[in-house]
Amino acid sequence: MVFSEAMKNSEIFFGKDIISLDQFNRKSIEFLFQQTIKIKKIFMKKGRHDGRPYRPLDGKIITLLFFEPSTRTFSSNSAAVKRLGGQTIEHQNPMQNSSVVKGETIEDTIMMIEQYSDAVVIRHPQVGTAEKVAKVANIPIINAGDGIGEHPTQALLDMFTIYEKYGYLDNIKGLVVGDLLNGRTVHSLIKGLSIFKNITLYLLSPKQLRLSNKDLEKAKKRKIKLVEIKSFEEIPTDCHFWYWTRVQKERFIDKSEYEKLKLSFILTKKLVDMKAGKNTLLMHPLPRVGEIETAVDSDPRAVYLTTEAKNGMYVRMALFSLILKS
Ligand code: NCD
Repeated sequence: MVFSEAMKNSEIFFGKDIISLDQFNRKSIEFLFQQTIKIKKIFMKKGRHDGRPYRPLDGKIITLLFFEPSTRTFSSNSAAVKRLGGQTIEHQNPMQNSSVVKGETIEDTIMMIEQYSDAVVIRHPQVGTAEKVAKVANIPIINAGDGIGEHPTQALLDMFTIYEKYGYLDNIKGLVVGDLLNGRTVHSLIKGLSIFKNITLYLLSPKQLRLSNKDLEKAKKRKIKLVEIKSFEEIPTDCHFWYWTRVQKERFIDKSEYEKLKLSFILTKKLVDMKAGKNTLLMHPLPRVGEIETAVDSDPRAVYLTTEAKNGMYVRMALFSLILKS
């Protein structure tokens, strides 16, 4: 469902599903980020970290249905709902603990959840699942990752982190490294940034994990410029951000292939010293499994363990407040 240009700001998100970055445009992203800044201010105010009395989700229940493991996305969604005064129903392992184990279809599961809650955040290993359940559900569905498909709220928090640092999203130059074939956060980030003007992304991955031709073709149709590079030497020294990613072990059929590729590109302090600009944000959706040296963590430009993760909660708070506004 595309947010219509004609909609008033307050109606852009109300009652909507969040399935893909394809749904967004400049106006909806700018509006979401304004709301994020507003909420972050309320909750970071000295002596008022609980944001009281701002409680737009008072009386609302949101179900978190996670068929794949998660630390940040699960916890930040849960925290976002609770900080806004709502409550959650949490299924962290529905393959074992819900009626799915008895053979219930995902559509039936969603229709049941709809009887008890006001929205669902769903993560599932199969591409297209969020979209599929959104078709049967009468409550908003938020895609928290569908296999190698997309992870829209991660891209929104990544884009917010860049926006917060620079104050703009046009004329951005970034480096994206790792598993570009299977990394859903990368797929959403490329779509999201392509909404803005004069974006150049340098892509670095093992050749087996290049962005798919289909995704490269799609990007060509948009205005975003993607430049595939082969080595650290080709990284320009004036990137606004570096976005490192994990090689997605769970997507490999041949685990020895994973072992071969997993540490192809490691972010080291030496590389940062050589190639990062003085303001380059060092980002990663996490978890990292060896592809960022811990020596990088204390660099003031490294935001993956701090601002980027924290912004995940604030962007989700903003989304919930707009989608469920009563
Ligand atoms: C990512 C995911 O699950 O797609 N993690 C996250 O949500 N922060 C990235 C990953 O698992 O590599």
